[in-house]
Amino acid sequence: MKLHDVAIVGATGLVGRTMVQVLMERQFPINRLVLLASERSVGKELNFNGTGVPVHALSPEKFKHCEYVLFSAGATVSKEFAPLAVRAGAVVIDNSSAFRMEDNVPLVVPEVNRKQIFKHKGIIANPNCSTIQLVVALKPLHDRFRIKRVVVSTYQSVTGAGKKGVDQLADEIAGREPAQHTFPHRIAWNALPHIDLFFDDGYSREEHKMMNETSKIMGERIRLTATCVRIPVTGGHSESVNIEFEKKCSVADVREILQQAPGVVVLDDPKSGVYPMPLNAAGKDEVFVGRIRKDETVTHGVNLWIVADNIRKGAATNAVQIAEALALGK
Ligand SMILES: NC(=O)c1ccc[n+]([C@@H]2O[C@H](COP(=O)([O-])OP(=O)(O)OC[C@H]3O[C@@H](n4cnc5c(N)ncnc54)[C@H](OP(=O)(O)O)[C@@H]3O)[C@@H](O)[C@H]2O)c1
Repeated sequence: MKLHDVAIVGATGLVGRTMVQVLMERQFPINRLVLLASERSVGKELNFNGTGVPVHALSPEKFKHCEYVLFSAGATVSKEFAPLAVRAGAVVIDNSSAFRMEDNVPLVVPEVNRKQIFKHKGIIANPNCSTIQLVVALKPLHDRFRIKRVVVSTYQSVTGAGKKGVDQLADEIAGREPAQHTFPHRIAWNALPHIDLFFDDGYSREEHKMMNETSKIMGERIRLTATCVRIPVTGGHSESVNIEFEKKCSVADVREILQQAPGVVVLDDPKSGVYPMPLNAAGKDEVFVGRIRKDETVTHGVNLWIVADNIRKGAATNAVQIAEALALGK
């Protein structure tokens, strides 16, 4: 088996550390692992298969001989350094929003549009975390019943804001003044209908990401409206999803399709207390779906509750799956 040189930019962050973990767990065929972060992290080491791998300051020379560079250090870093990694001969898998909507950049969730991976021109974008878990469940249902319209409300984990988001919640719960205010208000014991900045149309950038990225990944316009809310949990994002279809659908059909869908686990026995929750999704790679029920207000509609670990399937695992497909060549 061919072994590959892989670099991770943002290796010390929540997503970067999880990428290292996922590469180990999935036994990605690695020859050399290059860990890159800011100057602040120089001197740190991360464990990879029992060996301490040093973290270096990000600089373009570090991309030499790397076949795959996984970026997870924010859009500003990606915009500056991803083209340099491509110039050095690597394929970039970028977790930030820097290139997602660019025409020549595939936006990929392998369970949904795997073939797009092989159309890349050097950069492949990993979608927004809330979008990834949504489309994994939407795609098989769209293939069968044709989506007319989707209404999503999210309940998003503080891990979506990186390490500093987790720290603010921990500080507030402990009664300490947070070292950094990442959220626009107190997050402990609160719910903020505010993720990222607001546009003039009243929607937030996170909501726009969900609306735009869903159509790009699905390869056709999907009519979707979103309300994104930050809540004081870790472990994963939850989504209340209302879908109206063109074709007749029964709850039994929807359940069966989801049970067979790649990457989906159905947890749906609410009377026994069985439904997806962020505490149970934490650390897992699957997208969990439950509370499957008919929406009686439209002719063909259902409601779903979808939960996934935003750091794993919503970021690190999806990126590593893309790298695996490239390494396999299929
Ligand atoms: N969290 C999620 O659910 C999620 C999901 C999908 C995508 N993403 C995206 O993934 C990226 C990282 O998210 P995260 O949650 O892992 O954030 P994080 O925990 O704050 O980590 C940020 C990482 O970026 C590094 N970094 C920051 N500025 C840098 C610079 N100028 N040069 C080099 N490295 C720099 C940091 O290094 P130091 O430790 O040295 O500061 C750290 O390794 C973001 O683009 C985010 O939008 C996150």
